[in-house]
Amino acid sequence: MRRAASFRGFYAGTVSPDPSLVRCHVVTGKGGTGKTTVAAALSLALAADGGSVLLIETEGRQGIAQLFDTPPLPYEERRVAVARGGGEVKALAIDVEEALLDYLDMFYNLRRAGRALRKMGAIDFATSIAPGLRDVLITGKIKEAVTRRHDGRPVYDAVVVDAPPTGRITRFLGVTAEMAQLARSGPIKTQSDGVMAVLRSPQTAVHLVTLLEDMPVQETADAMAELTAAQLPIGSVVVNMAAEPILPVDGLEQAAAGRLTGTDLSPALTAAHLPGGDGLADALAAEVVEHAQRWAAQDALRDDVEKLGRPTVELPHLTGSMDLGCLFELAGRLEEHLRDEVERADRGVSIGARNERGAERPAAASGDVA
Ligand SMILES: Nc1ncnc2c1ncn2[C@@H]1O[C@H](COP(=O)(O)OP(=O)(O)O)[C@@H](O)[C@H]1O
Ligand SMILES: [Mg+2]
Repeated sequence: MRRAASFRGFYAGTVSPDPSLVRCHVVTGKGGTGKTTVAAALSLALAADGGSVLLIETEGRQGIAQLFDTPPLPYEERRVAVARGGGEVKALAIDVEEALLDYLDMFYNLRRAGRALRKMGAIDFATSIAPGLRDVLITGKIKEAVTRRHDGRPVYDAVVVDAPPTGRITRFLGVTAEMAQLARSGPIKTQSDGVMAVLRSPQTAVHLVTLLEDMPVQETADAMAELTAAQLPIGSVVVNMAAEPILPVDGLEQAAAGRLTGTDLSPALTAAHLPGGDGLADALAAEVVEHAQRWAAQDALRDDVEKLGRPTVELPHLTGSMDLGCLFELAGRLEEHLRDEVERADRGVSIGARNERGAERPAAASGDVA
């Protein structure tokens, strides 16, 4: 089952993003691992200390609006949150029909004709018979947002994409390359080449969200192999919903092995003047054992995650319903990770280059999006 280990050498050829240059963060992962949640938290992290971030939803399920507790998003960039230190997160749920109208307009001045086609249901028809067309339109919009400039400056410091799941991610990001091969020249070729130039540059990082469970870790390894073959830059592995240990590791290992009973806990309960007697001690011991076993099962997968050979950040499994407070907590962890990544990359470059870049970066947390 644990095929991940055998990929180790293979990743030596991974296309690596430059953490201090990355402006397009693509978040993928097996379904249900927390892609939308992580993408939202990452947006807050990148917007901290005054950044301006666009969070793009690609699967049209309004998960972002729900998460930020705002009305459904129109096909328009709307502010959904203010980050720590005054940064701003805007969100956009891509409407494929509208994106196609933009496209027809951009290349053929055909917006009115496009509207007529839409009335006839032709656009819906076209995008459903040619699913690749959807992906071309969506990645085109992502590239547009990443490269948009105003007064000579990028409009967004970073763009975060709540992307399709691992099983579809390489096709999604690479479909425009296929398109570029079909069109030998002309505006579509230029547009396609432009999209791939951004997606394959060190400005882009595809982050993979996983859980400490066999299947998601395996899917992460598979997706990494596919992304690498397609020359797409892989960013960090985000281990989501990790059980936080409530005991020191020694104690956890003992408990996980089942060597903890109510008798072990009774003296401490008595010393703390807690009523409940043996019944309480037994129940507590059973809970500790359950927690320890869950932790041990997850811990066993940490090696496999490490063997993936990418920078890793762990996010805790939070209890209660996922609200803005939770998102900020996760964002805090991600801010720390981003900072570490930039520092690590800086240590790897020449002093001159570091000084030059360092001067441009007033705040450490948002430094990688400058
Ligand atoms: N770190 C976390 N702690 C607790 N619950 C989480 C965490 N991350 C995600 N969830 C929950 O897990 C579920 C799936 O998350 P979601 O972001 O919608 O995943 P995906 O977009 O990959 O399908 C949601 O109910 C979400 O609130
Ligand atoms: Mg989602």
